[in-house]
Amino acid sequence: MSILVLHGPNLNLLGTREPQIYGSTTLDQINENLVKLGADRGFLLQTFQSNHEGLIVDRIQQARTDGTQFIVINPAAFTHTSVAIRDALAGVAIPFVEVHLSNVHRREAFRHHSYFSDLAEAVMAGFGSAGYGYAVDFAISRLAKTA
Ligand code: DQA
Repeated sequence: MSILVLHGPNLNLLGTREPQIYGSTTLDQINENLVKLGADRGFLLQTFQSNHEGLIVDRIQQARTDGTQFIVINPAAFTHTSVAIRDALAGVAIPFVEVHLSNVHRREAFRHHSYFSDLAEAVMAGFGSAGYGYAVDFAISRLAKTA
């Protein structure tokens, strides 16, 4: 059973990027924790980050045939712009949770709209890097129920 965690643009800079907003945990640290969380519960957890919209679309399409049963995605800036990534998620019909480190709703107005939230099983915003862990925990409990 497999969970895919996707990270959008600029999240490779976590740790040094606007730490007052996004915290000081690096993407590698986040990913390592999530892989361990999955493994402890018997799940393979794969991670992927890209700054390129098309590569994220390609990775989502690949998830259709690689055994992925649940997706956790922080689309980052593509949250507010990407019909292509939205359509990819709808197209593969794999349930997903949308994650944001920051509480996008208390930030600039352009961050208040998401192309993903109405398709998502759940949305996490403002929990910092812990939000990924909560989302993976939710995915595991969903998958454990359907197993
Ligand atoms: C973000 C919020 C987005 O508005 C922003 O463009 C990001 C990160 C977050 O995790 O809080 O890059 O998705």
